[in-house]
Amino acid sequence: MENLKEKLNVLYKKEEIQERIEKIANQIDKDYEGKEILVISVLKGAIFFTVDLVTKMKTPIILETIQVSSYQGTQSTGNIIMKKGLDSDISGKDVLIVEDIIDTGYTLKYLKEYLQTLNPKSIKIAVLLDKKERRKTEINVDYTCFEIENKFVVGYGFDVDERGRNIPFIGTLEE
Ligand code: IMP
Ligand code: MG
Repeated sequence: MENLKEKLNVLYKKEEIQERIEKIANQIDKDYEGKEILVISVLKGAIFFTVDLVTKMKTPIILETIQVSSYQGTQSTGNIIMKKGLDSDISGKDVLIVEDIIDTGYTLKYLKEYLQTLNPKSIKIAVLLDKKERRKTEINVDYTCFEIENKFVVGYGFDVDERGRNIPFIGTLEE
C-alpha cells in the first residue's frame, strides 16, 4: 500500500488545530452560557473535530450523530442521501451541528433544513474548515476554525476514499 501520509503537504499541524479549536470552544461557552447544547456530529469526518471541541468546552452537552453522504472521490455532487438519522428527539433543544468542512454548502444546507423540521429551539453550525470560494448555495456558518483555499485536504478526519482519517495533521493532496 502506498504511503498517503508522505504524499501530503502539511497545512495545519496538530498543535495549531488544537489551539484554534480551544478558541472556538471558549466562544461557544460564552454564547451558550447557562444552556445545554445538543451537539450533532456529522459522521464520519467530524468525529475527530467533535471530540476535541466538546472536551474543550465547559457547557454541558448531549451528543448525537447523523450521517449523510454527498461525495464520490474528490468531487462534490450535490446529491445528498441520509445514511444514519438521529437517535433522539431534538425538539426544543439548542442544536449545534458540528461538521468537518463546508465546501459547496449543499450538505449543511440539506442538514439544517431537515433539522429545522424537527422543531429545535435554535440551530447553529460549527465547521473546522471552510472552502469559501467553492460555495454554491447560501448558508450561514456560525463558527469556523480555518478558511482554506480550494485544495483537497486529508488527515484529522478528512479522507480520500476512506483512507487517511487518522493522520494527525491536516495536509493537502496535490494531484
Ligand atoms: P459540500 O456539501 O460540498 O459542502 O461538501 C461537504 C462534504 O464534502 C464534507 O462533509 C466532506 O465530507 C467532503 N469534502 C469536501 N472537501 C473535502 C476535502 O478536501 N477532503 C475530504 N472531504 C471533503
Ligand atoms: Mg463529511
